[in-house]
Amino acid sequence: MVLELGSASATGIVTFWTYLMFDYKSLLTNRVRQSGAAQVSSIFKAADRPGVISLSGGLPNPKFFPIDKLIAATEKVMRADGHNILQYGGSEGYLPLRKWVAERYCKQGVEVVPEMVVMTSGSLQGMDITGRTFIEPGDTVLIEAPAFVGAIQTLLIYQPRFVGVPVAADGVDVQALGRAISENPGAKLFEACPSFQNPSGVLYSQAARDGVAAVVRDLAILVVEDDPYAELRFDGSQPVSLRRELGDQCITLGSFSKIVSPGMRVGWTVASRALAPYYALGKQTTDSHASNFAQAVIWQFLMDNDIDAHIAGINATYKIQRDAMITAIAKYFPPEVKTTVPLGGMFIWATMPDDLDAMKMFHDAVDHDLVAVVPGGPFYTDGKRGNHQFRMSYSTVEPDVIEEGIRRLGRALARHLDAPSAS
Ligand SMILES: Cc1ncc(COP(=O)(O)O)c(C=O)c1O
Repeated sequence: MVLELGSASATGIVTFWTYLMFDYKSLLTNRVRQSGAAQVSSIFKAADRPGVISLSGGLPNPKFFPIDKLIAATEKVMRADGHNILQYGGSEGYLPLRKWVAERYCKQGVEVVPEMVVMTSGSLQGMDITGRTFIEPGDTVLIEAPAFVGAIQTLLIYQPRFVGVPVAADGVDVQALGRAISENPGAKLFEACPSFQNPSGVLYSQAARDGVAAVVRDLAILVVEDDPYAELRFDGSQPVSLRRELGDQCITLGSFSKIVSPGMRVGWTVASRALAPYYALGKQTTDSHASNFAQAVIWQFLMDNDIDAHIAGINATYKIQRDAMITAIAKYFPPEVKTTVPLGGMFIWATMPDDLDAMKMFHDAVDHDLVAVVPGGPFYTDGKRGNHQFRMSYSTVEPDVIEEGIRRLGRALARHLDAPSAS
């Protein structure tokens, strides 16, 4: 059967017939149909129009990609060890980098040894391996509400039954988590982003961390700590993994994406000695191992440069950008719209009065005010709760552009508050 749609070969007519007659979408699995990727990509597409100030992207600021230093690291590591790093590697990842990751946690006072670290192609792959390792169709997964869209989509592929647990100003609502656990006794996982959560920017307080540990203690439930923003903190404090409170009940997903480069696709998982081999198996059966080359270059970069100074530079700039957004919000947003004030990370989360529809506001703001945010709906697993909320990102936008973007958004919000059904 010819399935190469649009191929310009002698079978072109048959191909065209196939294209017209054959409903290839009927081949898709239910898990792919349910994944909802189209909704989010259409939001980003709309935000990508010329002249639109986009506060919607969740990207690290490219001016902090250490291009020259990575070129130097590449040259050095290729000359010193090229035959090794261009060869296949072990599924666990590049040992020197696994050692570096383990030591970084030890400096936080969290005991991690290299055997517990498996390198992944970005932290999102750690989420995928978590899904394929633990979730049978219909299994209950507790997840923050709101939660990172990528985590929802990635886990959705494994067809869980999601139970959303609300996130408050200082972390997950611990009482609600306790209730969710007792109402769903078979729940296996709780997915959390405790440091500068995407989308809310919320940082779990010590009380929230202790509370999570208290409610899961002695239960057969794992807490998946999705932690790519851990080091992006504006007050100079040290990151601390939930592993400190949870020990082996925690699986941590970390990443170089926000502190070195997302394009290199190097992240890691930290799991107990008993579970780490399953993550290595997950790597083996997906893509064999994370790129040896990218891991080695990052390792050499870390050896030759002061990563803490590099991260401090990122944080100083993001703090200025966050401040610009907070100041502009105070100036231009109607007081009915409440926003978070993140202590790190890349996002501010806004909550409008309940009767306002963020999706309508989004389309109106893009069309008439040339400014884009991300409507809140996709950040919830039940598709309803975030309809009056939206996410803004400041990481890639200069302060004067942030001010103009927020001014435009304030205008759109004021219109919608006057006439909630405006579109
Ligand atoms: C909460 C969260 N987890 C994971 C990721 C993916 O990061 P990585 O590039 O390490 O796969 C992101 C990226 O935006 C994120 O916001």
